[in-house]
Amino acid sequence: MQTVQVNLGENSYPILLGEHILSQLGVNLKRLVEEGIIGGKVLLVTNPTVNKLFGQPVIQGLQESGFTVTTVEIPDGEEYKTQETAALVYDVAFDAQLDRRSVVVAMGGGVVGDLAGFVAATYMRGVNLVQVPTTLLAQVDSSVGGKVAVNHPKGKNIIGAFYQPKLVFIDIATLQSLPQREIQTGLAEVIKYGVIWDQEFFQYLVDNTEAIKSLSTQQLLHLVQTSCAIKARVVEMDEKEANLRAILNFGHTFGHALEALTNYKVYRHGEAVAIGMVSASRVAVAMGLMKPSARDAIEGLLKTFGLPTSFRDLQVEDIMEKMLYDKKAQAGRVNFIIPEAIGQVRITSEVPPEIIRQVLKEQCLRNGIKGQSPAISCK
Ligand SMILES: NC(=O)c1ccc[n+]([C@@H]2O[C@H](COP(=O)([O-])OP(=O)(O)OC[C@H]3O[C@@H](n4cnc5c(N)ncnc54)[C@H](O)[C@@H]3O)[C@@H](O)[C@H]2O)c1
Repeated sequence: MQTVQVNLGENSYPILLGEHILSQLGVNLKRLVEEGIIGGKVLLVTNPTVNKLFGQPVIQGLQESGFTVTTVEIPDGEEYKTQETAALVYDVAFDAQLDRRSVVVAMGGGVVGDLAGFVAATYMRGVNLVQVPTTLLAQVDSSVGGKVAVNHPKGKNIIGAFYQPKLVFIDIATLQSLPQREIQTGLAEVIKYGVIWDQEFFQYLVDNTEAIKSLSTQQLLHLVQTSCAIKARVVEMDEKEANLRAILNFGHTFGHALEALTNYKVYRHGEAVAIGMVSASRVAVAMGLMKPSARDAIEGLLKTFGLPTSFRDLQVEDIMEKMLYDKKAQAGRVNFIIPEAIGQVRITSEVPPEIIRQVLKEQCLRNGIKGQSPAISCK
């Protein structure tokens, strides 16, 4: 098993990674009991899909290590990441007589992790949280860093907190059952880390595309571990996103606008972020901040992994409006994360709207006639 430590003073925790290690979660949690950090009751929050795949070894391992386990399944899907679902989990927590020392174990993708994390942060003013992420996106991103939330009808992740787990436990073997589209959406965040932080890692992804696509153990372990380490370093420097942590939002300003305008139904999060990273890279080149060769390398890698670099059937002005003038933006200036080279980005609000508009026009495709004419750029 490998370890990435997240150093946040008294909120520090390890990320443990390995392959076929789910049954060892219990033994590792027992150590936290012996250190007096947690108590012996576990509320396992998961969903039917994930429980069916991985529930048995996790529950058995926890019970063999002496834990009393109550399992609660939440329905599968982003639309259930709500306060109403959280309320159902509170009910189960209450019936199971969880106390302040008990542990909420979140086993699943980012939806389960965010919702169970939110429950852990709020139930009895906070109980212990352990993340067992089972999607690539959750393993490289959402389970690390302590952002937990549920959605509100007025916006995504509106109700939430910063609440660090006691342990993140990652079994990369779980990725073998993940649909290809979910792998791709996680890979967008992985590529993001290369661009914002680590040129060498970016090159590693370029050099190992085939092995990564076929989910080879060695490459998967390396990319999950490196991604977690980069996220950990950024979060250590700026836990509550006062400044530097914003670089993790590279591609997200554009991506969020695409997701919101399509009601979160067309793009997976990573797909929207991939398109957004292309937007930011093209803006960087148009502003003379980055060489075209770096932009081409970023776009090339995204395409190699089957990620989209353009979008369809949206009005450029609607995207501009969503990004620049919606309520959230009005509260302050819109910060863009603009790459300067692979491995280096800057945070700036000084981006001329006409450059953004031009870049979006180039990225926007209208549907061609099926099987006949190619898609044409929007005017
Ligand atoms: N907290 C953060 O810092 C942060 C960061 C990024 C994203 N997020 C949140 O993460 C959520 C998206 O997470 P996601 O992309 O993991 O989606 P998800 O949780 O919806 O999981 C995707 C699908 O994969 C299934 N699944 C999970 N593990 C599986 C496995 N091993 N094999 C087969 N199927 C499996 C799930 O049941 C689900 O149907 C969003 O709500 C987003 O807001 C949070």
